[in-house]
Amino acid sequence: MPTVIFELPGGVLRSVEVDRGVSVLEAARLGDIAIEGTCGGSMACATCHVHVDEAQFDELGEPTPEEEDMLDLAREPAPTSRLGCQIRVAADLRLRVPGSSLLE
Ligand code: FES
Repeated sequence: MPTVIFELPGGVLRSVEVDRGVSVLEAARLGDIAIEGTCGGSMACATCHVHVDEAQFDELGEPTPEEEDMLDLAREPAPTSRLGCQIRVAADLRLRVPGSSLLE
């Protein structure tokens, strides 16, 4: 099973093992990591925004134009920004979670 490593604000690391094909948003929920994800994965909110590890960003493939449009609305954007609900886990993955994507 692939492991998703979430780096939370302050540098805290949380690891979650998931089945292949699970989304990063679902992985976060399985690991009790409070990524907001208001729209539940229908690409209408950008509150599941994460920063993918630079070394792995290209492996994930290009975001769709629709995802790019939503990423324009993300707070704390970075060059490796993606929507967590649109990334399907296929192998071990490391991500940073901006504080703005976490429920308070
Ligand atoms: Fe809303 Fe990902 S959960 S865009």
